[in-house]
Amino acid sequence: MSTSAETLARTGGKHISHVLFSEEQIARRVRELGEQITREIPEGEDILVLGLLKGSFIFVSDLVREIRRPIEVDFLIVSSYGGGTESSGEVQLLYARQASIEGKHVILVEDIVDSGTTLNRLIPMLEKRGPKSLEVAALLHKHIAKEMVRDAKWVGFDCPQEFVIGYGLDHSEKYRHLPFVGVIEP
Ligand code: PRP
Repeated sequence: MSTSAETLARTGGKHISHVLFSEEQIARRVRELGEQITREIPEGEDILVLGLLKGSFIFVSDLVREIRRPIEVDFLIVSSYGGGTESSGEVQLLYARQASIEGKHVILVEDIVDSGTTLNRLIPMLEKRGPKSLEVAALLHKHIAKEMVRDAKWVGFDCPQEFVIGYGLDHSEKYRHLPFVGVIEP
């Protein structure tokens, strides 16, 4: 695939081997997810959208604008990968909001469900804080996790088993700002 000059300017000359989900496809799908979430979350109750940093920052900002309900927005910081491309299996909660999530309908927003380790470790931690409900919205899902304590209720796209970057997803902290999801040339 030929990489556009605009993308090369963003990647510092690194080529994209292929685009998996274009900017337009993502925008369409995020709109659909927002409509679906609006229909499916209860009316008249406290809704908290909790984005997992850093990967979900773009998805959260696009998704919340498509949810036609009163909501609160906050973020969690967890870290499960080091600088490389393999999951270490460790999940650390580095920041969590001080305000209570008790009694709220919490929508946990992930950019990608890969091995499932992050959600498997995080969901029990959040459940202990007594949310009224806790569901996951993920832009991408690899469907490779053998067991999930709670699978994502809302999924943007099924993702192939490749190392994907863009729209929030990084490789060693680079490429998060690309407007599409793709695979970078090795
Ligand atoms: C990535 C990604 C997900 C998680 C998914 O986060 O953003 O949160 O890994 O992988 P898993 O299903 O195998 O646990 P990462 O720890 O790389 O941090 P980041 O969001 O800051 O990039």
